[in-house]
Amino acid sequence: MRGTISASVLVRAAAAEEVVDLRHQVLRVGRPRQTAVFPGDALARHWVGLEGAQVVAVLSVFAQPFPEGPGPALQLRGMAVSPELQGTGRGGLLLEQVQAQLGCPIWCNARERALRFYERHGWRVVSPPFDIPGLGPHRRMVYQDTVTG
Ligand SMILES: CC(C)(COP(=O)(O)OP(=O)(O)OC[C@H]1O[C@@H](n2cnc3c(N)ncnc32)[C@H](O)[C@@H]1OP(=O)(O)O)[C@@H](O)C(=O)NCCC(=O)NCCS
Repeated sequence: MRGTISASVLVRAAAAEEVVDLRHQVLRVGRPRQTAVFPGDALARHWVGLEGAQVVAVLSVFAQPFPEGPGPALQLRGMAVSPELQGTGRGGLLLEQVQAQLGCPIWCNARERALRFYERHGWRVVSPPFDIPGLGPHRRMVYQDTVTG
């Protein structure tokens, strides 16, 4: 697949199998690998950030209606950066490129610790905290850029 280069990270569309290992390592620590395979993965869109042959960042986008009434029809899931590279800008590069490619509003359930990360990339919190069993406190967030209104 073709991709674009941003800093040292090559961002390109990917197959579901390419994102599962990093998802597992970062988002489903200590659980069976199968827990990192999400329902609907086969129909979702996936992206990877590559440095050389190494997948250093992943995210996926699912066709999933906003849970509370009118809202974006796409959900961001499985946003993860390699542990040794977290906090070095890779996640932001990947997220911004995918936002630009999609060109439409999108929502996610964000871990509390990642709220500031999303806010810095144009997202806003739209819910009080809620618990996702086994994963801890989250907030619903929405990205809606100025172009898409
Ligand atoms: C959240 C995450 C995708 C951000 O990517 P990144 O490349 O580390 O982020 P950047 O370097 O572009 O930006 C750093 C910001 O990410 C967040 N961040 C950094 N390390 C993090 C970590 N281990 N967990 C959660 N958020 C983290 C912080 O908000 C940080 O902002 P701050 O410096 O103002 O505190 C990445 O840190 C990660 O994979 N974290 C663990 C998994 C996770 O929480 N995923 C999001 C699920 S909603």
